[in-house]
Formats: sequence, structure tokens, C-alpha cells
Amino acid sequence: MTAPKGTILVTGANGGLGTAIVKNIIARPDLAAYHGVYTVRDVAAASSLQSALRTAKSHPHDVLPLDLSKQSSVRETAAVINAKVSNGEIPQIRALILNAGYREWPGRTRIEDGLDITFSSNYLGHWLLTLLLLQSMDRESGRVVIVGGWVHDPLDEANKANGAFEDEQWKKIFADASSETVESVAKAAWSPSPDDPSKDRKGLSGIRRYGAAKLCSVMMIFELQRRLDSDPELSGISVLGVDPGIMATNITTMTLGWLVRIIFSVVAQIANWAKPNGIMRQPHKSAGDVLAAALETDPPFGKRPKGMYFNGSDLKEPSAEAKDAAKRATVWKTSIKYTELKEGETCLTDWS
Ligand SMILES: NC(=O)c1ccc[n+]([C@@H]2O[C@H](COP(=O)([O-])OP(=O)(O)OC[C@H]3O[C@@H](n4cnc5c(N)ncnc54)[C@H](OP(=O)(O)O)[C@@H]3O)[C@@H](O)[C@H]2O)c1
Repeated sequence: MTAPKGTILVTGANGGLGTAIVKNIIARPDLAAYHGVYTVRDVAAASSLQSALRTAKSHPHDVLPLDLSKQSSVRETAAVINAKVSNGEIPQIRALILNAGYREWPGRTRIEDGLDITFSSNYLGHWLLTLLLLQSMDRESGRVVIVGGWVHDPLDEANKANGAFEDEQWKKIFADASSETVESVAKAAWSPSPDDPSKDRKGLSGIRRYGAAKLCSVMMIFELQRRLDSDPELSGISVLGVDPGIMATNITTMTLGWLVRIIFSVVAQIANWAKPNGIMRQPHKSAGDVLAAALETDPPFGKRPKGMYFNGSDLKEPSAEAKDAAKRATVWKTSIKYTELKEGETCLTDWS
């Protein structure tokens, strides 16, 4: 067997897109030669991932527990991975794919430690994981790939279908760059779910909080890249983002009946065939786009792509807020505050 060329780490590996990424890896011998580290919330219940892995002829891998909404879990899993890399048990991380995602529906607001679980699961847990794992990354060609989505941009035309950002008050996620404003998003004071679920049947408040968490994640592409670029040891690492489009996975179909799910899936298949980077996609196609961002060196990537954002396989301009340096800086500082990141926990020089 070819020696593994590095480690590919995928969070949310039991989900629709996560499992499709793993299937794509297994199906290609050049990718299957990488060591896979697949994180899931519950190893014993990760049936989609396990059945995909059972089809692999040869693919070295670990399946590890990780709950991104719990900082203790993020720290524990990062420590396990860092130990495995430092003692040579697994190769350095070539691709860190931040794929896990979570969205709340009406009446299901759950806040832990004062933080919105949507903010923690989509963004903060991934931010902390990344900073802790930088020490294990391949410094020549390592890449961090953040799975984004157009929901990060209230002005994106594609959001018209959900109606969550129609009112003027939702056109900007952070009204300003103050820490109070960022805190109101992080703690779900911005767009809270009403106590009475019947007042928000479409789950619009949850969609907006999901969009806000995705905005923080897309901001991280540019803020982390900027800080890596100024680091003499870590400037070879790239940070990219991919919008996978609408896919008929659990996050979008969990409240739908089985028949509607099947129709959704068939429509997505046809739409994806007609327009590969259109609104609706198949997980298999988006998985290929994520893996291209993680490993491809042909144009438009090149050897060291820096701070690029893609809609599927097309380059895309993220929202103006995602590139707002003042807002990004406050989100970064707030992340340090909430995770209580300390000197020595990350090897990034410009972390604070
Ligand atoms: N589907 C779409 O239309 C769409 C559109 C735009 C962007 N995206 C993004 O695509 C990515 C993949 O989503 P998907 O479509 O594959 O949805 P999915 O099937 O619901 O998968 C989401 C995965 O995230 C995991 N997850 C949720 N909360 C977590 C937490 N606190 N800690 C760790 N893992 C957690 C879930 O774990 P369990 O297996 O334990 O539930 C699941 O495996 C997400 O980032 C999502 O935001 C999806």
C-alpha cells in the first residue's frame, strides 16, 4: 500500500455531506491513501459513516467523538489528534475540513453556557478546534476548508426563497463592530426564537441565527488567513471556503415527511444535472468541490490558494460583512473571550 501522504480530517462526518466526502475519498485510490480522521458526535450512532467505511478496500482511518457545542469535547479531541501526530501515529494534517453544521427549528432553542448552540456548533467550536490543531498541520501545503453557505449573506438573492431576511432589520447581521453587538448574536439575543413556536412556524429566527453563525465562519476564512500569512512558521497554510448549495440532507429536510424528502432529493438531482453550481446540488457533487478546495493544485487553486471562497466550483465574492475588517476583529476577540484561549494553547503567533 502507498504510504499515507497526510491526514484529512472531516468534522460532521456522519452527516449527508460528511458521508459523501468520505465516500469520495474511499472511491479514489489517490485520496484513500491519505489517513482519514472522521469526527462525529456519537461514534456508536454514526451508522452512515460506518457503512461507508465498510466499503473501503484500504483506507487507514480513525473515527473520533467530537461535540463542537462543548468546548471540553473540542479540547479533548484536539489533544488526542495532536498526540497522535506528534508521536507519529498519524501523519500531519493536510486538510482540515470544517463541515459539521447545525440549525434550529421553531421552539427548539437550546442555549448552553449562555451561548447560542447554533453559534457554538457551526462557528465557535470549529474556530477553537482549528487554533488548537494548527500545531499538527502540514506547514508546506496544509489547508483549512470551511463549509459556508449563502445564508451568511442576507443580501444574497438565494435567500429570497426562505424569506428570513426580508425585513429591513435583518439586512445586516452585525449592525456595527462593537463587542455588545457580536455578543447579542453569540447569545441569541439577536433573532431569538419566540417562546410560542406557532409564532415562527417556518423557523425563520433559527435560519437567521444559522446565517449569523455561517457569517462568522466565512469571516474566519479571511481573518485566519491574514494572521497565518504574517506568521513565519504557518504562512504556508491556506484557508478556503465552499458553499455546497442546497442539498437534501438532514439539516434541510429534518422536519419534512418521507415523500417530500424523496421529491426534494429527485428535484435536487435533476437541478444539479442541469446546472452544476445552481441552487440545488447533490452531496456527491458538493463533496467533490470540498475535496478540490482541500487538495487541488490546478487553477484556480494553485499550490497555495489564499483566502478564496467558492460557490461549488465557481469562485464567489462573499458578503461585504464577511470582509469587514473591524467586525472580523471583534468576532475574533469575542471568540478568545468565550473559549478562554490561553497563551501556549495555539502555535499561531498573532492569536490574541
Ligand atoms: N444541506 C444544505 O442544504 C446545506 C446548505 C448550505 C450549507 N450546508 C452546510 O453543509 C455542511 C454539512 O451539512 P449537511 O448538509 O451534511 O447536514 P447534515 O446531514 O445535517 O449533517 C450535519 C452534521 O453536523 C453534525 N453536527 C451538528 N451539530 C454538531 C455539533 N454540535 N458537534 C459536532 N457535529 C455536529 C451532525 O452530527 P450528527 O450526525 O451527530 O447529527 C451531522 O453529522 C454544514 O456545515 C451545513 O451548514 C448545507
